[in-house]
Amino acid sequence: MNNGMTSEETGRAIKESLQAEHDELHRMVREFRTLAATGTPEVLIGSLDGIVAFCRSHFSHEETALRKHREMGLEKHVASHVRLLEGLFGLRAGAERRDGAFRSALGSWYANMTNHIEQHDRPALERLLVGQTREQAAERRWQNPGPPQG
Ligand SMILES: [Fe+2]
Ligand SMILES: [Fe+2]
Repeated sequence: MNNGMTSEETGRAIKESLQAEHDELHRMVREFRTLAATGTPEVLIGSLDGIVAFCRSHFSHEETALRKHREMGLEKHVASHVRLLEGLFGLRAGAERRDGAFRSALGSWYANMTNHIEQHDRPALERLLVGQTREQAAERRWQNPGPPQG
């Protein structure tokens, strides 16, 4: 990417936009939980569909950024995204069946999602930023080797 930003700035911008998406996801889940007490199944299914669509797009942004950065252990991270999406499909199927448990089931899905953010996303985003900084330092050394060291 060359849009006038240094690679360090690019790394920070990617990290911040992915973190903003996490904030939005937290907001959507809070909204679902508010609706869960009184909302009709149709309203809740609509809310779940919004969460599914948002997660699909967020996971895809995140995987693209991490793949571009050749993140190690990306397969495990992606597998965890797949499991989270499957969990949402299970919730949605419960809502379709009018299985009353789906109203509270998002709680355990959300615990898994929060764990995912802590265990996979947070460290990966830190590495992305450090990696970009390193890459930029390497670029600078390449362009301006400076006096020999030692
Ligand atoms: Fe993730
Ligand atoms: Fe994420």
